[in-house]
Amino acid sequence: MLPSEIERLVGEAKAARKKAFAPYSGFTVGAALTTNGGKIYHGCNIENPSLMLSFCAERAALINALVEGEKKIKALAIVSGDKDYCFPCGACRQMFAEFAPDIEIYLAADKGIKKFSMSELLPHQFKKI
Ligand code: THU
Repeated sequence: MLPSEIERLVGEAKAARKKAFAPYSGFTVGAALTTNGGKIYHGCNIENPSLMLSFCAERAALINALVEGEKKIKALAIVSGDKDYCFPCGACRQMFAEFAPDIEIYLAADKGIKKFSMSELLPHQFKKI
């Protein structure tokens, strides 16, 4: 993606982070993904006192896109309040590997933006043949 498109997607992820509900961890995450058609979908983490029910920002964005029938997911931006990059958890990696194997993943923090491919983040993903 063009630098301006990446900046825009990161901005959308930052806006999504404001909607996070994370009173238990205090760790808020925002995600935004874009499709080949240029539509943007947002996600934020949503926690629950039954901690295992907490939902990650990345998967929230993915589910938002999938329920709208999106098939061609191009890129994802992830931000948190941490000074380091927020890498997606294993469950999110596995979900994105299934639905968006060619996605560009941009992690943004104060120190800059880093790009990853799905195969870099999840080599040897689980597949059922
Ligand atoms: N979290 C995300 O939303 N995305 C990640 O990539 C890592 C973790 C959330 C889950 C939980 O609400 C909080 O961050 C702390 O783990």
